[in-house]
Amino acid sequence: MRVPVAEFIKSAAAPSDWPPDELPELAFAGRSNVGKSSLINVLVERKGLVKTSSTPGRTRLINFFHADVIVSPGNSGERAALSVVDLPGFGYAKVSKTERSTWRPTIEAYLSQRKSLVAVALLVDARRGAELDERELAPWIASQGVTVVPVMTKADKLAKHERRPAADKVLAALQQRPVIFSAQTGEGREELWKRLLDAVKKGRG
Ligand code: GTP
Ligand code: MG
Repeated sequence: MRVPVAEFIKSAAAPSDWPPDELPELAFAGRSNVGKSSLINVLVERKGLVKTSSTPGRTRLINFFHADVIVSPGNSGERAALSVVDLPGFGYAKVSKTERSTWRPTIEAYLSQRKSLVAVALLVDARRGAELDERELAPWIASQGVTVVPVMTKADKLAKHERRPAADKVLAALQQRPVIFSAQTGEGREELWKRLLDAVKKGRG
């Protein structure tokens, strides 16, 4: 999948700051430090487009990007113009209570109000699996007609024989087989694009 255009649009907290919802939008959600920002950089093939950090909880605002994707390579070269959203990480215990209490409403307001949202990639750390937050969030997102694509991140940290059982557990918890992904090796990139673009084609249910 080629991505000829990828650019930062803006950071926003309140709905009044969100850019207009004109393009099909893909959002990336998951626990702090799960690898959301790294994954977006791999998807759009821009190393430093989204800031990543080894300190969990760095992405506190909703970050909006624009990406043009070549959907069918070859003769037609059909493009899709998309909006891409990096959400603040949830569930990080070590930040102050006031900070934590501002994230949840930010994410929930976004997920429930954003009309152009077609799919949420829900990231789960391969070594932690799906915890209560993800188990609750997945059906809630789906109930709004938005496709949920589970992604098992940091797959490079698992031994070969650990991967299948870990993916099976995510499947059991979230009712869908996860894309096995590594930002370090690029594994899973094509499959993830395919599942996200299928959701774009399908539109909102
Ligand atoms: P917040 O913005 O704090 O919520 O974190 P995030 O989910 O955006 O995570 P980020 O992409 O910043 O990555 C967190 C840390 O995990 C960084 O040190 C990354 O280098 C590392 N990381 C991310 N993806 C992978 C991966 O696939 N494999 C490995 N080994 N490390 C990864
Ligand atoms: Mg981040």
